[in-house]
Amino acid sequence: MKVLVTGGAGFIGGNFVHHMVNKYPDYQIVNLDLLTYAGNLETLKPVEDKPNYKFVKGDIADEAFIMDLFEKEKFDVVVNFAAESHVDRSIEDPGIFVQTNVMGTRVLLDASRKFGVKRYHQVSTDEVYGDLPLDRPDLFFTENTPIHTSSPYSASKASADLFVLAYHRTFGTPVTVSRCSNNYGPYHFPEKLIPLMISRALADEELPVYGNGENVRDWLHVSDHCEAIDLIIHKGKVGEVYNIGGHNERTNLQVVQTILKALDKPESLIKYVKDRPGHDRRYAIDPTKIETELGWKPKYNFDTGIAQTIQWYLDNEDWWKHIISGEYQNYFAEMYKDRL
Ligand code: NAD
Ligand code: TYD
Repeated sequence: MKVLVTGGAGFIGGNFVHHMVNKYPDYQIVNLDLLTYAGNLETLKPVEDKPNYKFVKGDIADEAFIMDLFEKEKFDVVVNFAAESHVDRSIEDPGIFVQTNVMGTRVLLDASRKFGVKRYHQVSTDEVYGDLPLDRPDLFFTENTPIHTSSPYSASKASADLFVLAYHRTFGTPVTVSRCSNNYGPYHFPEKLIPLMISRALADEELPVYGNGENVRDWLHVSDHCEAIDLIIHKGKVGEVYNIGGHNERTNLQVVQTILKALDKPESLIKYVKDRPGHDRRYAIDPTKIETELGWKPKYNFDTGIAQTIQWYLDNEDWWKHIISGEYQNYFAEMYKDRL
């Protein structure tokens, strides 16, 4: 079996490449990534010499290149992680989100159709459902919750999902879609909440908490997400959407306090800053479908997962210090100039 993983030099795609290369020595895993600011070949070091792994640099939205690659490689399965993934960047520059997340997905779907891919899997997000009110802890996103997006990022991911499902209905393309809650774990780019707070707390720098810190995210360890996608591509039903989440809701403030406590740093580092425009209040997944139909169960809860993750950042300083010493400095200065 030959599997194309797009965006495999990013956070979740990189973890998924490790998972697949190690678990399935008989599969060929091809990692296609454009190596944008978020792509990092250092993440692939542990697998780069394995005989069942290959890296290809390229753009999922480059139609001629993608058609050539599919013709040559004859993929059985495509798992599309490649995306622009940061909400704050989508507020600054929505165009690239449409280009990569929507146009790129359309190109991959056409190539999958043309070259008879047996399964196209779209890695999506719970953000396509919009948000839930903070005073209704009884409400959760199910696969039937209407799509109702808030940010240019979530709008682009929702558009892509609609194309994927339309290709199934119209052309019979064998697709599946997964919508996962917020991930955390090794190799997470330090623009996102958890690695940003770990790296800054270690340097005794201010921790910018948007608004009042009461927004809620439902955190899932990246390895549990990878297991879920592995299950869906092998056992999931074509044409179906699967929500993925492990009931680990925390306010942003709770997350930051947990990190500070684990690192023995003072809460005086917390700085409440200008809120994100359109900031979604609460995400919370109902994972009943994937649990009952596919038997998925997460291995980590938030307490065990965050401890493992903090230890990883302590043990792998080279990986993230290399990132934050480069172009990232300009990003941080620009993004937080009116905040810190
Ligand atoms: P990431 O930003 O860490 O990685 C994205 C990767 O895609 C990078 O390696 C980048 O170089 C690559 N890429 C970008 N544009 C490309 C293009 N045009 N062609 C080829 N490669 C390109 O993102 P992530 O956090 O690993 O997220 C991966 C996927 O999972 C995304 O589709 C995202 O929407 C989805 N998702 C993320 C989360 C989360 O919490 N991070 C949760 C649910 C779903
Ligand atoms: P993020 O990691 O960007 O993921 P998403 O917006 O896709 O959920 O942010 C997680 C939460 O943390 C979100 O409510 C915004 C908040 N946040 C901060 O308070 N400060 C920050 O510096 C960042 C990056 C995020």
